[in-house]
Amino acid sequence: MQTKLARIAWITGGGSGIGQALTLKLAREGWKVAVSGRRPEALQETARLAAGNVYAYPLDVSDLEAMRQTAARIESELGPLDLVVLNAGMGQFVKLDNLRAETFAAHMRVNYLGVVNGIDAVLAAFRRRHAGHIVIVASVAGYRGVPRAAAYGPTKAALINLAESLRFDLEREGIRISVCNPGFVETPMTAGNRVPMPFLMNLQAATEALYRGIMKQKFEIIFPRRFVLLLKLFRCLPYALYFPVIRKFTGR
Ligand SMILES: NC(=O)c1ccc[n+]([C@@H]2O[C@H](COP(=O)([O-])OP(=O)(O)OC[C@H]3O[C@@H](n4cnc5c(N)ncnc54)[C@H](OP(=O)(O)O)[C@@H]3O)[C@@H](O)[C@H]2O)c1
Repeated sequence: MQTKLARIAWITGGGSGIGQALTLKLAREGWKVAVSGRRPEALQETARLAAGNVYAYPLDVSDLEAMRQTAARIESELGPLDLVVLNAGMGQFVKLDNLRAETFAAHMRVNYLGVVNGIDAVLAAFRRRHAGHIVIVASVAGYRGVPRAAAYGPTKAALINLAESLRFDLEREGIRISVCNPGFVETPMTAGNRVPMPFLMNLQAATEALYRGIMKQKFEIIFPRRFVLLLKLFRCLPYALYFPVIRKFTGR
C-alpha cells in the first residue's frame, strides 16, 4: 500500500492572527508547514500550539535575499512546496496630520513588495515542476478608497491587480494563484481598532473559509461573504453615489 506523503506549505505572518490560525488548521489536516515572520518567539509559539509538523523560519518579508534563501532551505529541509500563503502584512490608519511618506513606503515594502519577494522566491521551482499554489492575502480595502486607509488600501489594490495579471501566465504553466480578500476579522491587527467594524468575523470561522477556498483552488477567496458582496456592489457605484454612501456608513 502506498503511504500518502504530507503536503508542504509556507505561510508568512504565521506567528499570529490569520496566518497562525491557518497554520494550525493545515497542520491538523496533515500538512507540514513552514512559518515565517520577524519574531522568532511568535513562530515558536505557533509550532508549540501545533505540537508537530510546524517549523519556524524567521525573516522579514521585505528582505528579498532572505526570502529566496528561506524558500530554498524549506525545500531542502521539508521537501518541495505545494502551497505558499503570502499573508504577512501591516496596517496603520493615516490622518492628514500624521501623513508621512515613510508610512506609505513601509506599507508598500511589507504588504506589496513582501508578496512580490515571496513569488520571486518560489517561482523558479514551481515552474520547473509545473505545479504549486500561490495564495496572496489582500483585503476588501483594495476594492476602492476608504477613509483613513490611504497607506494600506493602495497596497491591497496593487495585490489584487498583481494576482489578476499573473494569473494569465501562471495558469498556462500549471501554477495556481488565489487572492484572498477578507472583510474585518478578529486578530491582533484589528484588536485596537476604534472604528466601526461591520460584520466582524471570528478568526476560526474566517480560517475555515480561507482553508475551504484554498482547497477548492478558487481565484478569489472572500469572507464574511455578505459584507464582501455588499462592497463589491459599492465598487460598481459612480463617484456621485460612492462618496455619499461611504460617508454615511463611516461617518467621515
Ligand atoms: N484582520 C483583518 O480584519 C484583515 C482584513 C483584511 C486583510 N487582512 C490581512 O490579513 C493578513 C494577516 O493579518 P492579521 O489580521 O492576521 O494580523 P496580524 O496578526 O497582525 O498578522 C500580521 C502578521 O504579519 C507579520 N509581519 C508583519 N510585518 C512583517 C514583515 N516585515 N516581515 C515578516 N512578517 C511580517 C507579523 O509578524 P511579525 O510582527 O512577527 O513580523 C504578523 O504575524 C494581513 O496581510 C492583513 O492585511 C486582515
